[in-house]
Amino acid sequence: MTQAPVNVTVTGAAGQIGYALLFRIASGQLLGQDTPVKLRLLEIPQAVKAAEGTALELQDCAFPLLAGVDIFDDATKAFDGVNVALLVGARPRSKGMERGDLLEANGGIFKPQGEAINAGAADDVKVLVVGNPANTNALIAQSHAPDVPAERFTAMTRLDHNRAIAQLATKLGVTVADVKKLTIWGNHSATQYPDIFHAEVNGKNAAEAVNDQAWLADEFIPRVAKRGAEIIEARGASSAASAANAAIDHVHDWVNGTPQGDWVSMGIPSDGSYGVPEGIISSFPVTCSGGKYEIVQGLEIADFSRERIDASVRELTEERDAVKQLGLV
Ligand code: NAD
Ligand code: LMR
Repeated sequence: MTQAPVNVTVTGAAGQIGYALLFRIASGQLLGQDTPVKLRLLEIPQAVKAAEGTALELQDCAFPLLAGVDIFDDATKAFDGVNVALLVGARPRSKGMERGDLLEANGGIFKPQGEAINAGAADDVKVLVVGNPANTNALIAQSHAPDVPAERFTAMTRLDHNRAIAQLATKLGVTVADVKKLTIWGNHSATQYPDIFHAEVNGKNAAEAVNDQAWLADEFIPRVAKRGAEIIEARGASSAASAANAAIDHVHDWVNGTPQGDWVSMGIPSDGSYGVPEGIISSFPVTCSGGKYEIVQGLEIADFSRERIDASVRELTEERDAVKQLGLV
């Protein structure tokens, strides 16, 4: 091994995304084939035994890059020395639960996790929040980690990005590798806006190649935005392997960089670009290099896109106001 192991903390490790994620991290797909990893799994006490079972299986894979697995039910311990934090465990919406109840229940998870990251994380920590509502959970965690640079807290919209690429490629009869520069704007929710106006397909503008406004407005956008619900309906459970895959993609590109001539979508604290209020965690087109991301600037936003971006951003500001009222940020 050429370097010291990177500490990767995964919360909700015994859940379905955790099971799809951990083996890929341990095999080197998160950080690269030269980077050994130490896994630190955080679970609630009732699920620690299941996490221990997963740890046995990880051992049985004899992954050359896996330098150890530790299991915790205490956030402060789990995030001690963490370099990459994947916050997957969250409180799902249960029957009769209002949006405010959901935000409050998740505040009970992401506030102490933000505090634990603040207390013990390594200086280079990078945080990805997967657990829903991902953008606002990331905001809660970030606001309880004042000593960590705010931009290190990100939320996952890469699954939406990948879904949109796949739908567009299918429509145009091309491969996913032919599609570049697609953007997800806004919230990881049904209000998100998958934008093909700057996307390219084999070097040509994607919206022009599609040339079908009805498909765009009535099929593509709602299909991508409601894909999570479609998966739940079909599988009887929310997306897991594809979500884990997107988490791998998100962190991999953040750490190792995005390819020349392309960009990806990440939920990140807004710096005010594109009229998105500063501070809310919203999805933008970004390029990554040297372990940092940068918002792609200068894209022209036509009215069709503007109203959809604004609608999703409005939902994010409402979520922020709701958690503010609950004293969570
Ligand atoms: P799951 O219910 O299978 O697993 C969640 C796990 O989190 C459980 O094992 C639970 O014990 C654990 N957990 C709960 N509270 C915890 C805490 N305080 N600390 C540590 N662990 C805790 O759920 P899943 O299918 O793995 O999904 C996890 C989350 O990811 C959900 O919120 C889901 O909605 C979300 N999700 C997000 C995206 C996205 O694109 N952003 C996609 C799919 C799913
Ligand atoms: C998804 O996009 O698949 C999930 O966020 C859906 C969900 O509600 O868990």
